[in-house]
Amino acid sequence: MKFGIIGAGSIGSIISKKLVKNGHDVKIADARGIEFLEGKELAGTTVRVEDAIKNIDVLILSLPTKAMPSIRNIIDQVGEEVIIVDTSNYYPFRDDKIEEIENGMVESVWVSNQLGRPVIKAFNNLLAYTLENEGTSVDSSERIAMAVAGNDTSQKQVVMDVVSELGFDAVDGGSLSDSWRQQPGTPAYCTELTKDELTIALKKANKEKAPLLRDKVIEIFAEKKDVDFSHEDVVNLNREIYNS
Ligand SMILES: NC(=O)c1ccc[n+]([C@@H]2O[C@H](COP(=O)([O-])OP(=O)(O)OC[C@H]3O[C@@H](n4cnc5c(N)ncnc54)[C@H](OP(=O)(O)O)[C@@H]3O)[C@@H](O)[C@H]2O)c1
Repeated sequence: MKFGIIGAGSIGSIISKKLVKNGHDVKIADARGIEFLEGKELAGTTVRVEDAIKNIDVLILSLPTKAMPSIRNIIDQVGEEVIIVDTSNYYPFRDDKIEEIENGMVESVWVSNQLGRPVIKAFNNLLAYTLENEGTSVDSSERIAMAVAGNDTSQKQVVMDVVSELGFDAVDGGSLSDSWRQQPGTPAYCTELTKDELTIALKKANKEKAPLLRDKVIEIFAEKKDVDFSHEDVVNLNREIYNS
């Protein structure tokens, strides 16, 4: 398949490498300018953002939430048949406070509104390390699962198939308005669960508590900034706090 990626941070770059490894055609761009890609470790063809959206099947947006409005003019030029995937998570300390999300709007619904286009939410509930290193073949036991949410079921299925190809079981997280269940602070968020566990975790999510638990984890990291947390420590902390 042909993919465009906008955003070449940890997630965009890892996805680019995994897609290329699986034989896909990938173009990757930075929303602000091609010069921002210099020295980055990624795969595929580096292009200007205007070129990333041409002649593709799927466009993956891997940006901080607050940057989404800045690409509206580009998204307006994306063909209607192109599936748009949103990997973003809202963190007020990084994204500034977005009033509508603070007031309960589902993060990817806000993103979709900013873009004026439906999106499929995926790649948001696994840590970059997990995405890069812990994918396994479809028949392996204890395979880690990823939540995928969106309104168009056939688009969602395409993305779920890509997720599986890249090493993770995909769990249908429902419609885009259900996708708060996979947002930061929920039991499904960056806790490395199997398909069955993730299905249960999505049901257990508490919308009111999630932002508080998200911020609690951030506070713990800030308080213990001299501690060198291993990846396992981070997953265990997420499991402990997000299930509390
Ligand atoms: N990291 C994770 O473990 C993880 C896991 C799942 C989902 N996510 C979410 O997925 C999205 C991408 O994550 P990431 O860790 O790859 O993020 P990131 O490294 O912070 O940024 C992604 C890309 O956006 C660029 N960028 C930064 N500020 C921008 C702005 N104001 N306008 C336009 N582009 C800007 C970055 O450029 P520079 O590199 O030059 O700063 C980078 O190319 C985020 O919403 C994140 O919350 C992250």
